[in-house]
Amino acid sequence: MNNQFDLIIKNARCATAADIFSADIGIKDGTIKALGKDLGSCDDEIDAKGAWVTPGGIDGHCHFAEPSKNGVKMADDFTSGSRSAACGGTTTVIPFAVQQRGQTLKDAVADYHRKANKQSYIDYAFHIIITDVNEQVLQELPDLINEGYTSFKIYMTYDDMKLSDSDIIKTLAVAREHGALIMVHAESSDCITWLTERLLSAGHTAPKYHAESRPMLVEREATHRAITFAELVDVPILIVHVSGREAIEQIRWAQNKGLKIYAETCPQYLFLSTDDLGGEDDYEATKCICSPPPRDPDNQRIVWEGLQSDNFSIFSSDHAPFSYADPNGKQAEGKKPSFNKVANGIPGVETRLPLLFSHGVMSNKLNIEQFVQITSTNVAKMYGLYPQKGSIAIGADADLVIWDDQNSQKITNDKLHHAVDYTPYEGINVDAWPAITINRGKIIWQDNQFHGTVGNGHFLPCQKPTPARPKVHSSPFKREAE
Ligand code: URP
Ligand code: ZN
Ligand code: ZN
Repeated sequence: MNNQFDLIIKNARCATAADIFSADIGIKDGTIKALGKDLGSCDDEIDAKGAWVTPGGIDGHCHFAEPSKNGVKMADDFTSGSRSAACGGTTTVIPFAVQQRGQTLKDAVADYHRKANKQSYIDYAFHIIITDVNEQVLQELPDLINEGYTSFKIYMTYDDMKLSDSDIIKTLAVAREHGALIMVHAESSDCITWLTERLLSAGHTAPKYHAESRPMLVEREATHRAITFAELVDVPILIVHVSGREAIEQIRWAQNKGLKIYAETCPQYLFLSTDDLGGEDDYEATKCICSPPPRDPDNQRIVWEGLQSDNFSIFSSDHAPFSYADPNGKQAEGKKPSFNKVANGIPGVETRLPLLFSHGVMSNKLNIEQFVQITSTNVAKMYGLYPQKGSIAIGADADLVIWDDQNSQKITNDKLHHAVDYTPYEGINVDAWPAITINRGKIIWQDNQFHGTVGNGHFLPCQKPTPARPKVHSSPFKREAE
């Protein structure tokens, strides 16, 4: 006779976005089938011995195998990127299919499926980056949304990516009509260009000038402009990788006005600072060049406060993997590249959860429900993957992390599983790491060993996200009054 369950996790101290409860978790065919005690017979059993069990992490912002320019190549493809994610407790990733200018969105998606197909250890969905708005591209959106691509990133900076204000407004209008979520990279292109030219003409090329070319007002102006466009069109948006006070003030202002403006922040704005961008001749600091740049410690505190007071809905890695000592990475323009020629982005898909669990939950800055919200449940909701993903609930995929919170160690790159030759978090202490990570019922990480099977990760078509609904639709009372 067959056992009732493939796996039972006994004595789990479960944390969801809403609750904490003790239970055994019964898993069959990759999904959670029972929560309770004395569940019945099983093939395998794990005793969690009262350890925290959280839903598997969902990284809603990571970059794998994107086409880059000028000889630059991302170090991580789907295989190494998803392996690294899994070893840090993440069981679903949502990277980006990038539209090259002149390309249809459908071709961009097809290209990216070819890169992902049978290459991922864990489940994945796609956002699409729109870089070229025209009538044909806007007409492609409804079909793509219905096929499960329901979130689109747009850029307000980078010459080869940015959209004009009018193209942003048109894109927001189509997103509103068809129920998609627009993610905005909010930095003001013209301000950055002007500052960069001034810095370069004064001979300032070191990495530290990256931060000076993108001060907070650059982010504030673009954040405010994006919010204004969202208000104009009456559509929710998500401001991604928010770095500090000035952008947060704009987001709070909008949220207090009742606008559905969501925000994301990332580990670099809690754990890195302008000091990491080095001194006058410190080119190793290219390792920490990302945009927006890390700010000062006061801003780190303000970002923590934004997490504590729910101004941020999600916490993502923005893993953008370029190796340092690599002619295809940070050194594509030589060993002492001018700051404006360095590939923007840093790795972090594996360290995201242990850093936040240790310095957020274990340091009493966040409660564990908040941790689950911003690393998993809200991400699933934001991108239309809930309730299949993002919770410990009957019927949900059995994506789970059993935490070891007695695991003090320093982060070092040799322990990580990405293909990047450094971590910007080298030497930072963590007190917790996943003891066991389970993806659709299968153990993929245990006792510091990776057990994944490449190709086991499935593509996840996304539903139209509830948070993307314009405000009027979320209030039945207002609808009646119309
Ligand atoms: O510097 C960053 N953040 N690189 C990754 C690409 C992006 O804009 O998110
Ligand atoms: Zn961005
Ligand atoms: Zn990014």
